[in-house]
Amino acid sequence: MKHDASPKSEPLTIALPKGRLLERLLGHFSERGLQLSFEDRKLIAEDTEGRVRAFLVKNNDLPTYVNHGIAGLGICGTDVLYESGQRFLTLLTFSFGRTKMCLAGTKKAEEEAGSPKRLQVATKFTRFTQDYFHSRGIPVQVIKLEGSVELAPILGLAPYIVDLVETGSTLRANNLRVLETLKEIEVHLVANTAFYKLNYERIDKIVEQLREYSG
Ligand code: PRP
Repeated sequence: MKHDASPKSEPLTIALPKGRLLERLLGHFSERGLQLSFEDRKLIAEDTEGRVRAFLVKNNDLPTYVNHGIAGLGICGTDVLYESGQRFLTLLTFSFGRTKMCLAGTKKAEEEAGSPKRLQVATKFTRFTQDYFHSRGIPVQVIKLEGSVELAPILGLAPYIVDLVETGSTLRANNLRVLETLKEIEVHLVANTAFYKLNYERIDKIVEQLREYSG
C-alpha cells in the first residue's frame, strides 16, 4: 500500500521505554509492518518508511518527554503515567506487559496487618501509594526507594512494600507475600493532546496498524 507522500511531513515522534518491554514492543511493531531498530547504542531511530522517529528514554522520564511535546507519542505503563501526575490521551492498551501493583510483606506483617496505627510502606510508587491509602482513609507513611524494594521488610526499614509483581518470583525469593492486589497495570500508547490534535490523521493510521484484534 502506498502512503501519501505529498506534502512530505516530518515523522511522528514517539518515546519508547528502555528496558525489558522494549524488545517485545519492537517485535510487535515489526509484526505489524513498522520496522524500527536501534543500532550501536543509538537512542534515536526512524522506521524504514520515515513515518516515525523513536527516542529511547528511561521509563520514568517518558511522561516528561511526551508532556513537553518533544515526543508526541509514548508507550508506557499505568504505574509510570500515574506517578508523573500528568494527563495524556490514551490511544491504545496492549495485551502484553501486564503486571499488578501489590501490597506485600512478610508473614509476620500479614498476621499483624489488622491493627497498624499507621501503615509504613516502602515503595518506588509514592504518589500512587499515598493516594491509594488516603482515599481509603488509611493512615500511611511512605518511604521512597528507587529499587530493590524487597529489601525494606527484610532489613527492617518498613514492614510493607508496594511494588509491581509480575511472576512473583522476586517476592518468593525474599520470603515475602502478596497481601493485597491494589491495581492492574497495563501498557498504553499515549499522546500529547496538542500533538494529537495537529496530527490525528497520521496518528490514527499508526494506531490502527498497531492495534491487536482479538477473536
Ligand atoms: C520489578 C519490581 C519487582 C520485580 C517483580 O523490578 O519492582 O522487583 O520487577 O517481578 P517478578 O514478580 O517477575 O519477580 P525491576 O526488575 O524493574 O527492578 P528494580 O527492583 O530495580 O526496580
